[in-house]
Amino acid sequence: MPVKKEQTDAFLNSVSEAAEQISKHVEKGEPIHITSHFDADGLAAAGIVGTALVRLGATFRLRVEKWIDEKIAEEIAADKPPLIIFADLGSGYLDLLNAKIRDHAAIILDHHEPIGEPSKTFTQINPHLHGIDGSRDLSGAGVAYFVAKALDKKNIDLACVAVVGALADLQDKYEKRKLGGVNEKIVEDAVNAGYLQIDTDLLFFGRETRPIHKALACTTSPFIPGISGEEDKSLAFLVSFGITPKREDKWRALRDLSDEEKKKLFSGLSDYLLSKGFPTHVPFSLIGNIYTLTKEEPWTPLRDAREFAVLLNAAGRMDKQGLGVAICMGDRGTALEQANKVLEEYRRAITKYLGWLNEKPGRIEEMNNIYVVRGENFINENIIGTVSSILSTSLPNPEKPVIAFSVVPGEEVVKISARTLDTLTSRGLNLGEIMRLAAEKYSGRGGGHDIAAGAQVPFTNLDSFITSVDQLVKKQLEATQRGS
Ligand code: C5P
Ligand code: C5P
Ligand code: ZN
Repeated sequence: MPVKKEQTDAFLNSVSEAAEQISKHVEKGEPIHITSHFDADGLAAAGIVGTALVRLGATFRLRVEKWIDEKIAEEIAADKPPLIIFADLGSGYLDLLNAKIRDHAAIILDHHEPIGEPSKTFTQINPHLHGIDGSRDLSGAGVAYFVAKALDKKNIDLACVAVVGALADLQDKYEKRKLGGVNEKIVEDAVNAGYLQIDTDLLFFGRETRPIHKALACTTSPFIPGISGEEDKSLAFLVSFGITPKREDKWRALRDLSDEEKKKLFSGLSDYLLSKGFPTHVPFSLIGNIYTLTKEEPWTPLRDAREFAVLLNAAGRMDKQGLGVAICMGDRGTALEQANKVLEEYRRAITKYLGWLNEKPGRIEEMNNIYVVRGENFINENIIGTVSSILSTSLPNPEKPVIAFSVVPGEEVVKISARTLDTLTSRGLNLGEIMRLAAEKYSGRGGGHDIAAGAQVPFTNLDSFITSVDQLVKKQLEATQRGS
């Protein structure tokens, strides 16, 4: 559903309330405690709030968390901060926050579906409260951006970071992988201020910066078996379509190809994907809107907003969250060098995990209504979400959501990451609800968006949990079929 002007206006009004509250605290010289989510959108949100606060001369501290549990909520409360800001998380934990920090002033800047009602001392800014879909039309970084802009118009330069956050949360779900809804306003701000340029092209990674075969090998959305993660095979693939990888001894980048060559390459890739059994819509996900950050150096991964997003994801998921936030706050130089290394490690880990899953039958199991991806204790629990996202666009049957899990080391708990496609959410499937219901039934905790959700459940309940998810998926899809 398109976002209506009244909805956007109502949302923007709510934003001013948060900005005023922040200004009052800063004027009084009171320290602020930010807690943000550890994924790329959360780090982008933290970078935006952090930069806005630095510019106001505020003192603050930041903690980055995978989720909020009782212990974390108690630690935050024990600090007795005059103001707490939650970024890209909070709305899913209202009951817990009510129980642990109800008397503290808190601002929740989130785009996850709110569960429960906030305490009177909380200000909750969330697109869902105004009928706007937070899983595709605005990210956590986007919510933070509007608050920053309400604090000071100068913060418009942070629009690019919000674009990165939205792309990191895979919100480019409009035609040709475009950002839409309220995100479109952020894109406009960034373009008008001269920070962002938009083109349509093949969506390879490193379009301006890498030799074509490397860019192709780095492309994992969709994951192309035999090509993703395989530079030598990518090179052979290009050559087989008559594309010369070098000119005058210099590697060519995607931007150096003629339109004719790009067409040849696209049709070759389409045929290849279809021959591997991919559904017909998958090749088209290789073409779309490119978001170029024009003020970033051309040879860095920050130049292409999608690559920036992956770099942040790498930082978040490889336990280098501070590095990610520093980059969002404008740090370059050695921070960027370090982040590049983390990005390489992250890519290697993903390739290794996908290879491992495909190595033995049964590691990816097709059940009646879902795919179960058994990461066991091989796949790091912080990366299982990325693996689940990649597989959701590349498994043969797009009618079945992907439920991937990893065992959390040292704890008797599994981390579950569920992903599906638009085609199923538009038919009424809501993975957030399914994760919540199944997890509650089996002594865990779950939630999230309709299209991407997660849960933590005790290891001993894993099998029952999976059976329950399989049944709930069936039930939801049947219910909407009956209703239509
Ligand atoms: O907590 P948060 O909402 O930021 O996490 C969203 C996660 O869900 C992202 O890491 C992304 O992988 C996934 N997602 C997705 N498809 C969407 C939206 C989010 O796979 N449309
Ligand atoms: O961890 P993962 O990336 O799979 O999470 C997907 C989405 O589900 C994220 O938006 C995350 O915040 C949300 N989630 C949740 N409650 C949980 C686990 C994940 O709301 N217990
Ligand atoms: Zn988010």
